[in-house]
Amino acid sequence: MNQTREFPEGFTWGVATAAYQIEGAAGEDGRAPSIWDTFSHTPGRVDNDDTGDRACDHYHRWAGDLDVIAGLGIPAYRFSTSWARVMPDGRTVNQAGLDFYKRLVDGCLERGIRPMLTLYHWDLPQALDSGPQGGWLGRDVADRFVDYAVAVGKQLGDRLPVITTLNEPWCSAYLGYASGEHAPGRTDLPSAYRAAHHLNLAHGRALAALRSTLPTTTELSVTLNLHQVEPASDSEADSAAARHVDLIANRAFLDPMLRGAYPAELFETTAHLTDWSFVRDGDEAEIHQPVDFLGVNYYNPARIAAHDGPGFPGSDRAIGVDIPGPHTVMDWPIVPSGLTALLQRVHREYAVPLVVTENGMASRDVVAADGAVHDADRIDYLRDHLAAVRDAIDAGADVRGYYVWTLLDNFEWAWGYDKRFGLVHVDFDTQARTVKDSARWYAGVAARNALT
Ligand code: FCB
Repeated sequence: MNQTREFPEGFTWGVATAAYQIEGAAGEDGRAPSIWDTFSHTPGRVDNDDTGDRACDHYHRWAGDLDVIAGLGIPAYRFSTSWARVMPDGRTVNQAGLDFYKRLVDGCLERGIRPMLTLYHWDLPQALDSGPQGGWLGRDVADRFVDYAVAVGKQLGDRLPVITTLNEPWCSAYLGYASGEHAPGRTDLPSAYRAAHHLNLAHGRALAALRSTLPTTTELSVTLNLHQVEPASDSEADSAAARHVDLIANRAFLDPMLRGAYPAELFETTAHLTDWSFVRDGDEAEIHQPVDFLGVNYYNPARIAAHDGPGFPGSDRAIGVDIPGPHTVMDWPIVPSGLTALLQRVHREYAVPLVVTENGMASRDVVAADGAVHDADRIDYLRDHLAAVRDAIDAGADVRGYYVWTLLDNFEWAWGYDKRFGLVHVDFDTQARTVKDSARWYAGVAARNALT
């Protein structure tokens, strides 16, 4: 029997992208390199040595890409601005860069698409990353971020319903400064905690600055890739390792942002690595700003075992172990129930409205002889995860929207172009776009505001 599961009235349905992954036009109209340009141009950092130089050429094809969203009838679009396009030297506004985002936002509004702008999806201007205390290791970067946020807010704030400060500071801090898998590619665990704090500070200060300059109707938020952590066994060692991952990966961001203080246990369990003296009096109060909702990105849970030394990024005593069952081509386990549990937990412990700002899967998608992309596996993935969101709502979580990662196959960071997450297939030689079956399926769900 077919069962229809409706979503709450006003639920937002969207698709998400990020600047460096789709824009290309790396040297145009005054844009300067970001840390991701430097990183991707360093041999061996990215699979196949792929770079975002051209990506989906969205900088030139944005109007057609918005037409695809509008043609499908998908109501909302989450994208990010490139800091290095808006402020190439990290300090001075490049009007040509901002004008691109004005055209993009106006293009959304003209087509009836609700834009959600993310200020930082990992592409720090390279100019702010010089020297050993450069990048997120310097406290100063938080103020540079405020200047950038205010510059964007001043010129675009009147027409933006939603602004998000950071995307996944966990990745910026721990993949950027501990495991080195992401730009700027450093491998020094104590630095990663310092970077995490400065990211938190940047979020709090920028949010306060935007709150005081933007119309009261503009919603402000931050997006975290929270980890649904579970111990690999019921041993005390694995439970302690899982608690540690929860501290460094979840509570190091959630607690200062939503409760106004880092957990004491975070300081205690990392005391042999850092004294946290970079957290100054008053910082936690500044980080603690009311958000209109919390963005949550979810792909899979983290099953954690005790481990001696580096393993799970950001921890020196834990490692992620595989979860049996189906996996995507990223080798990420497919566990929809983890999303229900995660949303319920955040709702229970932090009582904040939630939006799933990313969820989706990579697949080996090909354009078939009939000219279509039959990505039935992605439809199953999305259906099961949307059912998981609906389960969380049934259980009381205040979930207000869902954005598929992602609109277009794109530059998937350290994995380059081989991993296709898009609802729309991109031929990277010709830049031809082909709408996949999953896009039409998802558009139908959005139109009905219900899963059938
Ligand atoms: C998230 C990122 C997004 C994309 C997906 C697969 O961590 O925010 O840019 O790479 O993973």
